[in-house]
Amino acid sequence: MAKAKVVVTGGTGYIGSHTLVELIEKGYEVVVIDNLNNSYANTLQQVKEITGKLPQFYCFDLCDKNALSQFFEQEKNIDAIIHFAALKAVGESVDNPLLYYHNNIVSLIYLLEAMKVNQINHLVFSSSCTVYGQPDKLPVSENAPLKLPESPYGKTKQIAEQIIADVCFTSPLQVISLRYFNPIGAHESALIGEFPIGAPNNLVPMITQTAVGIREKLLVFGSDYDTKDGSCVRDYIHVVDIAQAHVIAIERLIQQKNKKNYEVFNLGTGHGYTVLETIQTFENVTGVKLNYEITGRRSGDVEKVYADTQWANKELGWKAQRNLDNMLQTAWNWQLKLNELNMKQDD
Ligand code: UD1
Repeated sequence: MAKAKVVVTGGTGYIGSHTLVELIEKGYEVVVIDNLNNSYANTLQQVKEITGKLPQFYCFDLCDKNALSQFFEQEKNIDAIIHFAALKAVGESVDNPLLYYHNNIVSLIYLLEAMKVNQINHLVFSSSCTVYGQPDKLPVSENAPLKLPESPYGKTKQIAEQIIADVCFTSPLQVISLRYFNPIGAHESALIGEFPIGAPNNLVPMITQTAVGIREKLLVFGSDYDTKDGSCVRDYIHVVDIAQAHVIAIERLIQQKNKKNYEVFNLGTGHGYTVLETIQTFENVTGVKLNYEITGRRSGDVEKVYADTQWANKELGWKAQRNLDNMLQTAWNWQLKLNELNMKQDD
């Protein structure tokens, strides 16, 4: 039997591109939608280099309702959609909340409406541990109360989950939301990885760009948190582990193994590392000394968060396989590759 056809919105992005590879390697037909807002079409050539298959690509913005309807007129027999496409810079969302509410929420509503019209009933949604805010209890499990997130970005993820849950309640739609902790690392081929346009916000691209000499130094935000060394604790998880969880979630929906119309799973390793431990591990693994300086807290940061992974392990049948050494080594290999290709990263 032919494998299912899966539409991947945001498929040229960081997690999207790694998921394309895993889907193609499992024999799925993939179709990508992306507006290239924070990514490059060339990523799909890299996906082809890894898998031998060039995904079909539609370049448009999901907030463009006409373009979305045209897409569904052209592409038939879609079995499922994975919805990655969204803006994700926490700081930018604080400065420009309307941009975030408009982009992340309107695109989701249009997508859900189009899925209803076209009778596509399987969706995997890209959510985040940001929906927990600063949890009272750690590790945080899926049924922990959702606190108000610190940023409009986080709120868009919470609102999106609520919209989806409401729609699932009254329609045939079946959805799995995957709440990622901190995805880092890159594909072992070093052909795809995280490639932020402009200065990165996230820790690991900041570490690798500093180590390679694009940035002068890394600023460590905060040294007075209630953690073992005063810096924040996060649950870093390899992007390939995250990508593989999406394939499992798609299979679960298509094979109708889901127990409820709307399910939620944490994607983390269950281990928390401080920022300083992460820097230390990077130095140990790569042998490169990092120029860093401790500075004040960054607004919007939570002190510590790491996942209770039991539900995902047991019910989804997924467990993260790769450790922090591997995450940082592959991120470094990818950075070296970008430099070799002389890709512009110094805005
Ligand atoms: C946040 C969200 C996450 C979201 C991501 C999108 C939370 C808990 N997490 O991740 O869900 O997907 O944004 O971008 O809200 N740091 C430095 N120096 C730097 C950069 C970061 O010290 O130059 C520190 C931060 O203070 C933080 C840690 O590194 O403690 C990780 O930061 P980052 O990689 O930006 O991810 P989060 O903010 O945890």
